[in-house]
Amino acid sequence: MPASAPLMSTYARLPVAFSHGDGPWLFDTDGRRYLDCLSGIAVNTLGYNHPRLSAALREQVGRVIHTSNLFEIPLQTQLGQMLVDRAAMTNAFFCNSGLEANEAAIKLARLYGHKRGIERPEIVVYEKAFHGRSLATLSATGNAKVQKGFEPLVEGFVRVEINDIAALRTIAAERPNVVAVFLEAIQGEGGIRPATPEYLREVRALCDSQGWLLMIDEVQCGTGRTGKWFAHQWAGIVPDVMPLAKGLGSGVPIGAVLAHGAAAEAFQPGNHGTTFGGNPLAMRAGVTTIEVMEDEGLMERAAHLGAAIMAEISRGLADTGALVEVRGRGLMIGVELDRPCAELVRMALDAGLILNVTAERVVRLLPPLIFEQAHADLLVERLLPLLRRIVATPAPGKA
Ligand SMILES: Cc1ncc(COP(=O)(O)O)c(C=O)c1O
Repeated sequence: MPASAPLMSTYARLPVAFSHGDGPWLFDTDGRRYLDCLSGIAVNTLGYNHPRLSAALREQVGRVIHTSNLFEIPLQTQLGQMLVDRAAMTNAFFCNSGLEANEAAIKLARLYGHKRGIERPEIVVYEKAFHGRSLATLSATGNAKVQKGFEPLVEGFVRVEINDIAALRTIAAERPNVVAVFLEAIQGEGGIRPATPEYLREVRALCDSQGWLLMIDEVQCGTGRTGKWFAHQWAGIVPDVMPLAKGLGSGVPIGAVLAHGAAAEAFQPGNHGTTFGGNPLAMRAGVTTIEVMEDEGLMERAAHLGAAIMAEISRGLADTGALVEVRGRGLMIGVELDRPCAELVRMALDAGLILNVTAERVVRLLPPLIFEQAHADLLVERLLPLLRRIVATPAPGKA
């Protein structure tokens, strides 16, 4: 029997299980407390056991969990309106996860292309992008490791580097079948790499002049994490299509695609659907998450705490010569070192800190948005000595 039976070996799991949480704290089955700086990978917006979310979900479970999209779902209309108002868009489709939201966006772009007479539509995607693990979304992902073994990949994607507008202009000149540009406002799995505001504005302008859809994957960077509802809003633009998921339900599975203009009219009955998507329980989680974020001023706090954390980490590592860059916005932070640092995850666990390393040498911090100053201080206090320990020995290849 394989070592990990009865589970498939899809994850190399850390040897810890959590029994419960409270605010930004998780407690393991031995009662040990950890400061959560990962939020289940940008999911637990309101931390653990937020009294308003717990009460709302309990109440909703007692009422109705699931009906079907064959019927009206008032909570879906309510959450859809809340989202489109905050995004300056007009229509929403609900599903259950990030890859589903992206899959819907890809289908929508193809339909949009076909309606314009383009038989084999192409979508521009990015190096280092991550969009999910379904066949279409892993094909759009810019990471060979994610794709390996699953060939043949889905066709119809053209790839460029982020923040290289000349590359996109070349595509505009050479590829008449392009119908959409699909990118993360801040690449998450790729190492917390932001598209610059200037780049996003230039892409918006190019999409307008070409008749392309601008589709921004806000699955990880959206829902207030960067200090605005959606990370692209820092550039003052509005996309045509925006997939969301992760933090929108504060832990209850949820996905959404927002759209406006021609993109909002692409899907007609029979084109797309989902059994669970938009169920009343997930919608209640989304509505409550947004209400609490606004009532508690969580976005403003995320912007301010994130800036302070980034400054402290930069200062604390300045003399090491091993810090490549501290990047991100709000409570979406990447600390790139000059060497691989996967071992940091275990060291942090031992020190009572939950974090993640992505793209081999980028420490990724995605704390819940209910973080307060004292939590931010503790994060820095626990993390800096660990980082300094990692960089105490010269990096391979360095004198
Ligand atoms: C930007 C982005 N898009 C899509 C996904 C896929 O989301 P899910 O795991 O919910 O399918 C992720 C997950 O990490 C993500 O970061």
